[in-house]
Amino acid sequence: MQYISTPQRLLLHNAALVTAAGRERGPLASWEALGWWPQAELIVVRDGRHWRTAWIGAPGDPARPAYDRAIDLGGQLLTPGWIDCHTHAVFAGDRSHEFTQRLAGTSYAAIAAAGGGIVHTVAATRGAGLAELVAASAPRLAEMVAWGARVVEIKTGYGLDLTTELKTLAAIGALQQQFAGQLTLVATAMPAHAIPPEYRGDPDSYVALVCDEILPALGAHAVPVAFCDVFVERGYFSVAQAERIGEAAAALGLRLKAHVDELAAIGGLDWAVARGAVSVEHLLCTDGAGVARLAASETVAVGLPLTSLFLREPLAPLRALVDAGARVALATDCNPGSAMTTNLPLALQVAVLMGRLTPPEALRAVTRTAALALAEPDGLTGRIAVGERFDATLLAASHPDELTYHFAAPPRAVPLLATADFGQNAP
Ligand code: NIG
Ligand code: FE
Repeated sequence: MQYISTPQRLLLHNAALVTAAGRERGPLASWEALGWWPQAELIVVRDGRHWRTAWIGAPGDPARPAYDRAIDLGGQLLTPGWIDCHTHAVFAGDRSHEFTQRLAGTSYAAIAAAGGGIVHTVAATRGAGLAELVAASAPRLAEMVAWGARVVEIKTGYGLDLTTELKTLAAIGALQQQFAGQLTLVATAMPAHAIPPEYRGDPDSYVALVCDEILPALGAHAVPVAFCDVFVERGYFSVAQAERIGEAAAALGLRLKAHVDELAAIGGLDWAVARGAVSVEHLLCTDGAGVARLAASETVAVGLPLTSLFLREPLAPLRALVDAGARVALATDCNPGSAMTTNLPLALQVAVLMGRLTPPEALRAVTRTAALALAEPDGLTGRIAVGERFDATLLAASHPDELTYHFAAPPRAVPLLATADFGQNAP
């Protein structure tokens, strides 16, 4: 019998490298401030199931340690693995008809009030079998891989009943198997995404069901759930209801995330920050006080510029958030109603072009701060730093300015680093 030995120490050379190991808060005026090596070499070592960065240096550095295999990256751009830290990518059906209605002038809120919106997708998702739900969602994840994502957070929330919320989590588990080595999936429980139609007249009973049955069942599932998210919004969940959900989640050891200030500001931001939420998301109508609140907290502000674009709404105050010193991340929000897209590079580009982030601030927002928005899942820190788990996206570019300059361009992720064993010499 012959075994191909798996290399334990790799040299990655001839790379242009952004480490994203610079500061986590505040403005970044240059690539140097984020961590930039026009020419770099790295030694990465196998550490159990993962790789760890052991050394970073310039070509010709005599301090370079030994290695047992070299990979020439062809002068291409190496960054920390991109993280899409906010998606609703597992659902069935589509809502193109609502999109057309919105283009003709009907608002997202009006469509939801008339019985469409999230509950439309809920009906399709309840009606789909597990295999069907997985098959409907897998192409979206494949697109995310092509765009360079290495970590994707996925929320439940198109079930809104015990059976379908559990089916959604099982689908996330099946997709994790299917995309093993390509993607790390992070599951978030979001049964508090909308009031299901059968509880329209009695939302508090649905909140009780979420707290007493759905969250405990999701938290006990074989597919691990790290977070609980809640949509704090007029017509969805009030701050008082969100507080009951936050308490139940905390008792189960789930950390809090919250959709706040998306359509109207009803106090969700202050509540979530005071509750120690890992992140707050959307922030379209966040004011100066909210910005200051976030700047003074550990809570990550997740901007979703493609949702603003798709809903024809203003962007979150991204520039003000960064200037004030908040930790700012960016994600796609991939979902059938408010952001039918998988394009994380476009989120970065719109944040730069319309939201006035600098390109280094935007790249930080899909790497380091996106990892913080997910509490560094499985040791993934969203930066390339000695001693930390190594995970990277390789892009067909030689300079990070190209990531914004070539806007709305085809995917540039290079599959060489697309598997944990680098696609070669796997045992
Ligand atoms: O993030 N805000 C709530 N959830 C989604 C929209 C979901 C949908 O319309 O299906 C969002 O925008
Ligand atoms: Fe969302």
